[in-house]
Amino acid sequence: MINSENILNSAQLEEAIENFVHEFCAEKHDIHSQKVTWYTSEGQIEKIKQIGISKDGRPVDEVIAEMSKEVYRYRGDANHPRFFGFVPGPASSVSWLGDIMTSAYNIHAGGSKLAPMVNCIEQEVLRWLCEQVGFTKNPGGVFVSGGSMANITALTAARDCKLNDENLHLGVAYVSDQTHSSVAKGLRIIGIPNSRIRSVATNSAFQMDTDMLKEMIAKDKENGLIPFVVIGTAGTTNTGSIDPLEEIADICANNNMWFHIDGAYGASVLLSPKYKHLLKGTELADSISWDAHKWLFQTYGCAMVLVKDIKHLFHSFHVNPEYLKDVEGDMEHINTWDIGMELTRPARGLKLWLTLQVLGTRLIGSAIEHGFQLAEWAEEALNELDNWEVISKAQLAMLNFRYAADDLTDEQMDLLNEKVSEKIVESGYAAVFTTILNGKKVLRICALHPETTRDDMRTTIHLLDTYARELHEKMKK
Ligand SMILES: Cc1ncc(COP(=O)(O)O)c(C=O)c1O
Repeated sequence: MINSENILNSAQLEEAIENFVHEFCAEKHDIHSQKVTWYTSEGQIEKIKQIGISKDGRPVDEVIAEMSKEVYRYRGDANHPRFFGFVPGPASSVSWLGDIMTSAYNIHAGGSKLAPMVNCIEQEVLRWLCEQVGFTKNPGGVFVSGGSMANITALTAARDCKLNDENLHLGVAYVSDQTHSSVAKGLRIIGIPNSRIRSVATNSAFQMDTDMLKEMIAKDKENGLIPFVVIGTAGTTNTGSIDPLEEIADICANNNMWFHIDGAYGASVLLSPKYKHLLKGTELADSISWDAHKWLFQTYGCAMVLVKDIKHLFHSFHVNPEYLKDVEGDMEHINTWDIGMELTRPARGLKLWLTLQVLGTRLIGSAIEHGFQLAEWAEEALNELDNWEVISKAQLAMLNFRYAADDLTDEQMDLLNEKVSEKIVESGYAAVFTTILNGKKVLRICALHPETTRDDMRTTIHLLDTYARELHEKMKK
């Protein structure tokens, strides 16, 4: 039987929370001068496995201390100002607080009757985000756990709007060779196999080639297939490129196709007064994915899928079983289980609301613009050095480049750049990883942290240069 002897009493609970918060904040303090953590060890994994699952329970302090020492330290810290890999997740401390508050109340945010004010706040944030995108008539959306889920949610709506059970086997989807892998994954899950997912080539700026897109659509139509969706990207994962959104919208309109934009990374640029013009055309899409845990400084598990007309999400996801009739919603008081995949869900939007309220959109906009500047500073430092090629110029806080020398073969250069990445990660100064562009291994920087400085960017580039030259010398021998 559970009683206050064997579960936490409130004094213990308060003390445990206080201690945790205190230690967490102390660790975060002066993160700038700390190393970028990136380590795990087989030994450590074995240690955790040895602990097993407790039958009789253990004192909370002991378990928290163990987790602090043995678990959290072993990670790649994507919150660090010099973590430039993947798409970093520099979460604002306000979002952390919002996350803790949301967990504390543990609200079931699926239904509007269960949590009317939470629902209202989420819908208000979504309505405001739709406004930024340019969806004005009957828009809507839902908070989901990430860009992958946002994409699959939108693609489901696209499928149900343009295809039916009889012709699903004919539907064709179009992505580019730079589209995020979650899109093809989502398409396969909703019943569109690889054989009906077309990869359109990109131009020298890594943007979808719309002439090729038109040709592919025409050919598929000739063959009796049904082109139903084009996925354009606003901010590709490799280079931050933005597909020609207006042209794609035109092509979709002419062919009765759904236009989805994967803005998981780049949609946040809509909040920058200086750069939002780059995303002109979002208003023409049918749906857009937007990750708040990327460039909106939220803790993980926070993204949005927005649609031009909410009825499409309702059409795909509406459910009405007998056990939910007491809390049935309508278009005014929408239950999120009627417009998305989840029934029970946490109130993911609350921390974003808190962040928007506390920081204000002006500060968030300038924090986003800072990312653009960071990539430009890196490019500027690179241009002062010999033997470095810029493969994709600074745009949307991203830069791709590689060390290249005449006396090295392509294979050697690939290996050298890979080793340079390994060395800087090992050093703990910064995390810079590789990707492949035009068949070449390149170094890639994605810099989003509002506290990263020009000096951080220049020192990172100089360190990469030192490692590259050392390796080059060795390869010559
Ligand atoms: C353009 C783009 N789309 C989708 C995703 C997937 O997002 P998530 O990891 O939140 O599922 C990413 C992740 O980096 C991305 O860059």
